[in-house]
Amino acid sequence: MTVGLSASPPTTNHRLVEWVESVAALCKPDRIRWCDGSQEEYDALCQQMVDSGTFIRLNPEKRPDSYLCRSDASDVARVEDRTFICSLRREDAGPSNNWVAPAAMKSTLTSLFDGSMSGRTMYVIPFSMGPIGSPISQIGVEITDSPYVVVSMRIMTRIGAAVLDALGNGEFVQAMHSVGMPLAPGQADVPWPCDPVNKYIVHFPEERSIWSYGSGYGGNALLGKKCFALRIASVMGRDEGWMAEHMLILGVESPAGQKTYVAAAFPSACGKTNFAMLIPPASMPGWKVTTIGDDIAWIKPGTDGRLYAINPENGFFGVAPGTSVQSNPNAMASIRANTIFTNVALTPDGDIWWEGMTEEEPASLIDWTGREWTPGCGRKAAHPNARFTAPTRQCPVLDPRWEDPQGVPISAFIFGGRRSTSIPLVFQSFSWTHGVYLAATMGSETTAAAVGTVGTVRRDPMAMLPFCGYHMADYFHHWLTMGREVLSPPRIFHVNWFRKDGQGEFLWPGFGDNMRVLAWIVERVHGRGHAVESPLGWMPRHQDLDWAGLDMPFARFDELMAVDRDLWRQEVASQDDLFFQLDDRLPKELACERQLLVSRLWRSPTVWHQAPAIPE
Ligand code: GTP
Ligand code: SPV
Ligand code: MN
Repeated sequence: MTVGLSASPPTTNHRLVEWVESVAALCKPDRIRWCDGSQEEYDALCQQMVDSGTFIRLNPEKRPDSYLCRSDASDVARVEDRTFICSLRREDAGPSNNWVAPAAMKSTLTSLFDGSMSGRTMYVIPFSMGPIGSPISQIGVEITDSPYVVVSMRIMTRIGAAVLDALGNGEFVQAMHSVGMPLAPGQADVPWPCDPVNKYIVHFPEERSIWSYGSGYGGNALLGKKCFALRIASVMGRDEGWMAEHMLILGVESPAGQKTYVAAAFPSACGKTNFAMLIPPASMPGWKVTTIGDDIAWIKPGTDGRLYAINPENGFFGVAPGTSVQSNPNAMASIRANTIFTNVALTPDGDIWWEGMTEEEPASLIDWTGREWTPGCGRKAAHPNARFTAPTRQCPVLDPRWEDPQGVPISAFIFGGRRSTSIPLVFQSFSWTHGVYLAATMGSETTAAAVGTVGTVRRDPMAMLPFCGYHMADYFHHWLTMGREVLSPPRIFHVNWFRKDGQGEFLWPGFGDNMRVLAWIVERVHGRGHAVESPLGWMPRHQDLDWAGLDMPFARFDELMAVDRDLWRQEVASQDDLFFQLDDRLPKELACERQLLVSRLWRSPTVWHQAPAIPE
């Protein structure tokens, strides 16, 4: 419904109406449109973007109802250095977040938003994170001047009239967004409006509000995702006794028909989507994996003493490069139609392509910048952080309980970074506290998902470094508390799919073969899998994993699992960067766990996975 500035809105929620009016008064849009979330509205906005040159409609025979969009070259990923947690007190944001006093930040933002929507339509998008009506779900309202954001939010969340009904006169998270490019009368628009210089992704945790300015891309602009479902929700979870985590959720069915749910936290572009939709190797008959979510989990204690998780999202915003029918057939099936592709290449027949999609490169393409591309031209055809936006319901292996309002009971948490050295394929923590230490000290090589240098190891606790809305040490306390408060907390595991050999080749085949590790994890959770004690935790021996259909010589497994004492001393020393920063609030348990690890590293032998099993 498009209405003039004074026309009556489709809700009686006074706080919402007043907020929309005040944002309109500040941003001075030409029009206001309350989004109803209908298919007609979605189709009309997509057509409008095709007409304006923002979208290219893909070949309807190859990729029905799908579009290609190319962003501005300055706006291709999350901007961590422009992301702020403006809590009232600086200490509450902690050293890992950028902070500015809320009043000062509001004043900066108010000047930027003043008139920022002139010449444009202001869209009001009521959205639900989680199935509408679930006791774990939360409602937000995003105001934006970007139709790309509207159509993306319709895929990524549940939006529209049904959400307004569920909201009634209740509370909601305020999320305002402007691309930061007002249009003077008569000024022509560009395909991807943004502010190439001034970007601000700002959170006010106490008032549960978000102000995002200058970027139209992904987590910077689809405010239900990282801004709400992680940064603001992590604060809500701390205050209310639940958890908002950067985790996929999957179901595993064993050959005996036993169902187990696990959640896994890997940093951005480190394999969550692939793991969430994993297809077990044909040589492991009877194992089956089903998907609940690929990026975010909201987790609450149930009355039975277990932790229950929902996926608050409704779509996948997945990394395109590297996705193929070999690496992730379920993702390829999920994007067969009704998908928005951002910063991928266009084929001559109106379909899409990216590095790694097919073994043979197409003879010619239009690359993500709109230029002619041929193999060997020296440029990438797709941006390394090119993404697809597709409805979750298109995933062929969705778990039957994926929208269960109560969530699913989680039996294991898996943590893993992208590490070419040091970190073994898999090990299990000795206890909850030890597991929290492993997760808190997780390191990973940086990827193209965030603007900055790619490939340097940084500490990324729980894969939440860019997403925790409060002091990281308080977050560790919260984790420790949650483990104490539930009767049967999930078991905690650490994995690394990315270890390399001397030639720089991956030691581990990964993808579907990750099922071998997952199967061991599931068996451990149910008290059946075998393991030996190593300095890092419980480890499988070669004979404890299922190798049917895969040639895994002992020597290669040794390389994958080795605990190199010298490298591990450096690893422990490198945790200082993080621990010193957080020192004044760091839980004592974590310092103790570190000390215990150091003392265990002196034990012999070094090749733990060949040790005899502890008698059953
Ligand atoms: P965000 O959406 O950014 O939070 O990340 P994600 O964790 O969902 O990323 P995604 O699953 O899309 O990761 C994509 C990258 O991980 C691609 O470069 C893949 O090739 C790589 N990848 C995924 N699984 C594996 C694996 O098992 N082994 C190896 N070596 N690479 C993998
Ligand atoms: C990530 O970077 O972890 C993502 C993509 O999932 S974005 O939503 O852009 O943050
Ligand atoms: Mn993510």
